[in-house]
Amino acid sequence: MKKRFGIMTTGGDCPGLNAVIYSIYRNLKPHKDIELFGIYQNAIHATQPYTIEKITYLDPLLPSRSGTILGSMVASDLHKFEAGRSRPLALLEDYNLDGVFLIGGDGSIEIAKKFFPEYPFIIIPKTIDNDVAFTDCSIGFCSAVGTVTSLLDNLKNTGYSHRRIMVAEVMGRDTGFIALESGVAAFADAILIPEQSHNEQALKEFLLKRYDENQSGALVVVAEGVTGMKEFMETQIPIPSRYTILGHLQRGGAVCETDRLMASYMGAHAVKLARDNMWRKMVIWRDYQASDIDIPKESVKRYVSQAEIDRCEELDIFISSS
Ligand code: F6P
Repeated sequence: MKKRFGIMTTGGDCPGLNAVIYSIYRNLKPHKDIELFGIYQNAIHATQPYTIEKITYLDPLLPSRSGTILGSMVASDLHKFEAGRSRPLALLEDYNLDGVFLIGGDGSIEIAKKFFPEYPFIIIPKTIDNDVAFTDCSIGFCSAVGTVTSLLDNLKNTGYSHRRIMVAEVMGRDTGFIALESGVAAFADAILIPEQSHNEQALKEFLLKRYDENQSGALVVVAEGVTGMKEFMETQIPIPSRYTILGHLQRGGAVCETDRLMASYMGAHAVKLARDNMWRKMVIWRDYQASDIDIPKESVKRYVSQAEIDRCEELDIFISSS
């Protein structure tokens, strides 16, 4: 009898999901004893959250497209379905699958651990927030940082033309990885992240000084987990400024080569594990290579470390009150 593997994407979408899906499809293709089933998210008015369908062909142009052909449900959507209310990922056990490739972020991983402690998953971490521990990087982060960096360049070009301080609010939920990396890449003057408290008076003095030094403007990157910055700029800083929330523009951008490379190798690694019947694993990316660990018992959530903050401070970027 043929083996039946499923594949699903969960949580906020990110660039590189389709590349992982394609990599798994292509690496399974030569193995005629295995069938791959997509677990597709239904539209919000459907009676069931998911529909399962055998994948017999995928467009080779798919890896370069961001988003996910399978759909990806966030927790708030799932609760709208009757079947999803009692148990997240409900129905999975009815599909009669030998195992499932779950491409998800920290929330999905915790749900899989809590509600399906025995279920044969292979998890591939993805999130633009990059807040999954045990891996150097998650699928989607590098692409998002590339997109955000180019949006920051745009803000700088217009802002500096008008001698303004431009403030960009970026995603990251309660973490500051996107703010930190895109801010450094765009040569921002200040980066504010939820992991590090800042002194408003020190920030004010820094910005006024830096504005004079730059002679043309300044760029501040604020992670969405930091509150009050818009009001601070409007009431405390006597220089024209503009506050822009980059929002979902950050999520659907181009799939960078690092994410494609990670998707290729991590997808291939996941297939190898599944064929060897090695389930309950998380595929990780370390030192530019795909490998795996057992799905960790402890939390997989991570935050920007003090070492990363110190490294950034050495660049003479305002990041803390010191
Ligand atoms: O986790 C990814 C993320 O883009 C966060 O950075 C952001 O806070 C959140 O998802 C936005 O979620 P939604 O698309 O449901 O508004």
